[in-house]
Amino acid sequence: MQKIYTVGGRRLTGEVRLSGSKNAALAILAATLLPEHGRTTLTNVPRISDVETMLETLQHLGVRVQHSDSNTVTLDAGTLTSHEAPYELIKKMRASFSVLGPILARYGQARVALPGGCDIGARPVDYHLKGLERMGAQITVEHGFVHAAAKEGLRGASIYLDFPSVGATTHLMAAAALADGITTIANAAEEPDVVAAAALLNRMGARVRGAGTKEILIEGVRSLRGVEYAVDPDRIEAGTFAVAAAITGGDLYIRGAIKEHTEPVARKLMEAGADVRYDDDGARVRLPPGRSLKATTVEASPHPGFPTDMQPPFAALLTLAAGTSVITETVYERRFRYIDELARMGADIKTKANAAIIVGVPRLTGAPVAGSDLRATAALVLAGLAAEGQTEVGGIKYLDRGYEDFCGKLQAVGANVRRVEDGDKATEKVAA
Ligand code: UD1
Repeated sequence: MQKIYTVGGRRLTGEVRLSGSKNAALAILAATLLPEHGRTTLTNVPRISDVETMLETLQHLGVRVQHSDSNTVTLDAGTLTSHEAPYELIKKMRASFSVLGPILARYGQARVALPGGCDIGARPVDYHLKGLERMGAQITVEHGFVHAAAKEGLRGASIYLDFPSVGATTHLMAAAALADGITTIANAAEEPDVVAAAALLNRMGARVRGAGTKEILIEGVRSLRGVEYAVDPDRIEAGTFAVAAAITGGDLYIRGAIKEHTEPVARKLMEAGADVRYDDDGARVRLPPGRSLKATTVEASPHPGFPTDMQPPFAALLTLAAGTSVITETVYERRFRYIDELARMGADIKTKANAAIIVGVPRLTGAPVAGSDLRATAALVLAGLAAEGQTEVGGIKYLDRGYEDFCGKLQAVGANVRRVEDGDKATEKVAA
């Protein structure tokens, strides 16, 4: 098992280049099942294990997948050989469930395993299923599988989501692209990942309007074609490195940061004392010399609110901010599992219902800690960059799900961080 060892205290300076967005890439990859003709070439695809899992699922369904370099992948879904996605693949990553709608739209039937639980709270798929039912699918759930059938094809429908779910929005949008007639999705998610998936669909020949707003309208077409598409830079990776700059009193240029995607985090960073300046190619984030971090309040909520995925990294930052900060989580009910680990590093942090209350401390101290999900593990590495002494972070398999070369990128801007096999002597590997 691998671990990350950090020795805190170094200011991070220099430039970080963002990889492609994990969440946009996953929604886009699922949509590449739709075109009957032509191949789709995606560039700026992040090299992360969640993308590998999605590619494995697509290959299982018969999509031909070719890598021309580590971030470019060409997919040909001309003939699918299966309409069934097994539990072994879906349990690895729930986003794979979104292959259901596209297979159903093309073949009139699909069988996909139900995703299991998850460490950040219940994550049901009821909106996905209700939406497909509204489009005329007959859904049965048996033996852990969802079987969906629409022998006459899907038809346009008016859909309302009880909560603006990102996954349900992109999934139903993709299915509706090939439905007969007009589909509307009300209370749709407004995340940039939805906008990216709609842009891909439209390039393929779909007619999607309103992505990025609360109401999306999709006029179904008979067929779609393969296209070329570049995945946007990852806004959560941008936020993570922005916190890395602020928590180390550093100065980073984050190449690829898109203002409209990252502003909800930038505003809170500025409230906490950081300086954020955008230009056409990215953003410079720094904690000006002599300035210290100050407490603030954060509410994690759907876009354009503060992203829930940035909630753990931001909590790491606020552990060192003078005063009392409150972080409220409105998307997931159990996304505070990392706080006991931050407390082991000396943070004064506790939870009450769906809020974390953080009283800033002057310093954190390194300790062995373990992340329980992707962003929690990232948060612990960030805390380690600011802590006195050595921090040993477990849970690296989660980090690999969503960050491409996290350690390499941190090292390049001066972090004292190493990834080692557990059992190796960390002190030898972490250069003093
Ligand atoms: C996506 C992101 C994830 C991010 C989340 C919220 C991907 C691959 N992942 O996850 O990084 O944290 O958006 O921004 O894009 N819900 C239901 N029923 C459903 C669907 C969702 O009750 O059928 C609830 C969930 O339990 C959760 C909330 O809606 O409380 C939001 O979930 P959703 O936006 O769907 O998250 P994902 O798309 O799974």
